[in-house]
Amino acid sequence: MAVKHRFIVLDGVEGAGKSTQIQRLAQVLRDAGEDVLVTIEPGGTTIGEHIRELLLSPDFPAMTPLTELLLFCASRAQHCDEIIRPALEAGSVVLCDRFSAATFAYQGHAGELGEDLVVSLDAAATRGLTPDMKIILDLPPDEGLRRKFKEEGAANADRIEQNAPAFHERVREGFHRYAERYPDRTAIVDASGSEDEVFAGVCEVLGIHRGPR
Ligand code: TMP
Repeated sequence: MAVKHRFIVLDGVEGAGKSTQIQRLAQVLRDAGEDVLVTIEPGGTTIGEHIRELLLSPDFPAMTPLTELLLFCASRAQHCDEIIRPALEAGSVVLCDRFSAATFAYQGHAGELGEDLVVSLDAAATRGLTPDMKIILDLPPDEGLRRKFKEEGAANADRIEQNAPAFHERVREGFHRYAERYPDRTAIVDASGSEDEVFAGVCEVLGIHRGPR
């Protein structure tokens, strides 16, 4: 099985099932003989993990929208240079849990900074590194948060999850706007079905044909 996409991102609203789908995809690609790196944003490096803690901790409600955006971009810059670019150069397939589309949807569309500032800071952070395919798992945000809090408990919600339902609705809208703006390498997959159904949608987008399980 030839895997033509080397840098693949899964993104979407909270609780859409990205990490489960990424693990399944990684397994299929490894079974096909690929060397696969699974990584995450914000995070993916030691510096990025520290930035992630700052960004998600409910202890910092005073964080301004611009600081938040710059921190997401700082994590991405480090991640691209330290991990993603070298892995791609070494021939690995990189599966990344969130990337630029999340910044567009959360900070640019749902947040108050506007899409243009986000797009230009993101371009500086990535220095032109763009995924071969971005798959946006789409789900009503109330359903996603319900699934997530059922697993993790609402009391453990992070600073961004704690936003009002209307914010999460705008995030979903932001992902759709992103897909309209960058239709070439972006696909929206309905994430409301079973894990198997969603995975079938992910594989279809990537042109991966699996035998019977
Ligand atoms: P996760 O819980 O899916 O790992 O994502 C961490 C949180 O960070 C999630 O609430 C989405 C948010 N986020 C942004 O707001 N902007 C970004 O650029 C990224 C990568 C994540």
